[in-house]
Amino acid sequence: MPVKVMGIAAGRKNSNNEILLKEALMYCEEAGAEVTMINLKDYKILDCTGCTSCTMGMSQGKNVGCVLDAEDAKKKIMDVMLTQDAVIYSVPTYDLMPASAYLTFAQRSLSYETAFLETIGAIEHKDRVAGLIAVGGSTRSWQSMALEGLQATMFTTDMKVVDMILATRVPGMAQCLLDDDLIARARKLGENIMTAAAAPAEERKWLGDEDMGWCPNCHSNALVLGEEQWDGLHYPIECQVCGAGGTLEQTEDGKWKFVIQENGLLKDRTTVAGRAKHLEEIAQTQGGFYSNPENRKIVQEKLAKYKEKQFKTI
Ligand SMILES: Cc1cc2nc3c(=O)[nH]c(=O)nc-3n(C[C@H](O)[C@H](O)[C@H](O)COP(=O)(O)O)c2cc1C
Repeated sequence: MPVKVMGIAAGRKNSNNEILLKEALMYCEEAGAEVTMINLKDYKILDCTGCTSCTMGMSQGKNVGCVLDAEDAKKKIMDVMLTQDAVIYSVPTYDLMPASAYLTFAQRSLSYETAFLETIGAIEHKDRVAGLIAVGGSTRSWQSMALEGLQATMFTTDMKVVDMILATRVPGMAQCLLDDDLIARARKLGENIMTAAAAPAEERKWLGDEDMGWCPNCHSNALVLGEEQWDGLHYPIECQVCGAGGTLEQTEDGKWKFVIQENGLLKDRTTVAGRAKHLEEIAQTQGGFYSNPENRKIVQEKLAKYKEKQFKTI
């Protein structure tokens, strides 16, 4: 069976996202993959309603799907996407972060939350790899949350990111075609995807640029000051994407590096085990709220004031 690779673009037709994605996919096809490609702009995808009926169903051991399944194209895409061995996402940067066409799609994936569905035995585990391409008109400075925003959407569907490209300074239509190195790098991403997909799941590792990002675990470039978490865990510095914890240390040449501490990967969001820790948090925080009738009574009483109050709208 050939390796199945899907490309998902979210930018202008025949412009930078599609071109870089196609360059990567062409490598995959030449290497024998069965390739599918879509542009999210061609589909109607509605916003998550926030109803959480999917996760409520899961907490009762059932896979109830999404209330919008029959309303738009999300399910149709997911039915194909989740059978893939690898997916390459190519998304424009808008306002420093992934464009909303992609985020709307990604944030509808809660009903496919693999950690939940595997826990209740509704689906079998499938290892998938992913490559990420973020494309913007500026340098990293104006794309500061672009790749990190894409990375943050990979956990829900268990995508192991093995390579990422930040395509910079290509604001114009198809402008990336002037940059041969960038096109070659996109092709290399396709090669890395095929290498990772061919490897046994436990041997799959980061194949992107070795020194990419601050975080040695997920290669994000985003660190934050840690704050005490729900269970008291506190790291001085955290990776904003994977949740790795540790400290900053100065190297002999005066540079700074993020050093992950001994228990720093306890809640590593790139792993099913790490995400299961978040399920514990939800069970305590949200489950604790709903399971106590006294909480709901207090909320109902206090809510009346806010429900009644109406401001002028437009
Ligand atoms: C609404 C909007 C916001 C944008 N914001 C950013 C930005 O914050 N940073 C950046 O580098 N480029 C930004 N851009 C430029 C696009 O990322 C750039 O044109 C990119 O090439 C679009 O990809 P495409 O050609 O595949 O559609 C923005 C473009 C638009 C339309």
